[in-house]
Amino acid sequence: MIQFTLNGKRVRLDVPADMPLLWAIRDHANLTGTKFGCGIGQCGACTVHLDGAPVRSCQLPVSAVAGKAITTIEGVSAPSSALPTKDRRARAAKAVQSAWTRLDVVQCGYCQSGQIMSAVALLADNPSPSDADIDTAMAGNVCRCATYHRIRAAIHEAARDLSSAKA
Ligand code: FES
Ligand code: FES
Repeated sequence: MIQFTLNGKRVRLDVPADMPLLWAIRDHANLTGTKFGCGIGQCGACTVHLDGAPVRSCQLPVSAVAGKAITTIEGVSAPSSALPTKDRRARAAKAVQSAWTRLDVVQCGYCQSGQIMSAVALLADNPSPSDADIDTAMAGNVCRCATYHRIRAAIHEAARDLSSAKA
């Protein structure tokens, strides 16, 4: 039995210790917003937050998250966000989702939950990233539809929203 916090709630999953976290989340916690892409840590489709930092859930045995906090795309999605309103990630998530919608970033959508999780983690840490900061933070998230330009523009837009909300 592995226990951890998933989107703000304690969960106990009866799964093998070496099961990748991705399968525990999708098949045992029934949260399917986190996607399987490559399974080898190369595409970023499976990105979730481990204690606030982006990780590839296909590469992490579920035993490695015992006692820790995992956030998935469902946990940052309004209106069901599991994050406390004042949390930096909650503010970043709101700005990211709004900018993603305004700029119509998504194409097929397959990579996008992973892209959003990486973008939220970036903006929570660095609310006004440069192009280089964005490229570095997002380098591990592959998009087969090549939405990269819109992703970068949406991250800048979300950063502007965050700074005007602060002013
Ligand atoms: S599915 Fe995990 S990085 Fe591609
Ligand atoms: S939007 Fe299709 S893979 Fe990224």
